Amino acid sequence: MCIQNTETHKGRKMAFIIDGKKISSEIKDELKEKVAEYKKNGIEITLAVIQVGNDPASTVYVGNKKKACEYIGIRSLSYELEENISERELLDLIEELNGRKDVNGILVQLPLPKHIDEDLVIKTIAPEKDVDGFHPQSVGALSIGQEGFVSCTPAGIIQLLKRSNIEIEGKECVVIGRSNIVGKPISLLMLRENGTVTICHSRTKDLKEVTKRADILIVAIGKPKFVTREYVKEGAVVIDVGIHRNAENKLCGDVDFDDVEPIVSAITPVPGGVGPMTIAMLMYNCVSSVELKK
Ligand code: GUN
Repeated sequence: MCIQNTETHKGRKMAFIIDGKKISSEIKDELKEKVAEYKKNGIEITLAVIQVGNDPASTVYVGNKKKACEYIGIRSLSYELEENISERELLDLIEELNGRKDVNGILVQLPLPKHIDEDLVIKTIAPEKDVDGFHPQSVGALSIGQEGFVSCTPAGIIQLLKRSNIEIEGKECVVIGRSNIVGKPISLLMLRENGTVTICHSRTKDLKEVTKRADILIVAIGKPKFVTREYVKEGAVVIDVGIHRNAENKLCGDVDFDDVEPIVSAITPVPGGVGPMTIAMLMYNCVSSVELKK
């Protein structure tokens, strides 16, 4: 591993803090240049963003996605649909967007109201416009090493590691969590990078024993400050996918940062770690949709 926790603070070694804000900005700037090149050649990239209802968190996420599009030079089409829209009406809109030559990517913000079948909605998006990487075809392609969209948070984690010069090949990689949008795809990506991957979940026996083996520990368990130093090997790299708001309205992750940071070689903070990478990689997928289309 290239990273050493050699920086000192009051005489103690400090972990390298993996700066997701900085890395995501670098990626967005690279994409901005690429989009400008495409524009010179008459190619415009368009993302259709669909939000059903007005869940405040979704409104913030969708707003940030549109802002990122604007920054990079991607055109965004906004569809704000009533909470009580029928499943059929939503599917009709997706089908219309599937057929439009001027639309490269389609994003339906989740979660959807309970009367709409999320799996059916995801399946209806044309795989070549599935910039979220949630379609079964995209997931299948990832699992057998074929080309396709990779879901944004896992793709962002790989970028965080690579751009921090943290080698994955040959490393013991342990993932806590087996969700379809983080745990499973990040495991496949680490495997693709030649890591030795273990997936832990709620039924894993002796969880601490397994996580303590990790050179790279990815935590996507959805429980605030769950991972303390008892779960972590000294010198490990820790990636925290969780985001929670505590009683004092402060953000924290699935990892108890203050407890874990002194013993690890590198760690992502919350906020400012994995979070900003999701939108950067969504933008990456929108730009690469042009290549896939070719
Ligand atoms: N809701 C929370 N995260 C996401 C995401 O990455 N994509 C979509 N479509 N909905 C979300």
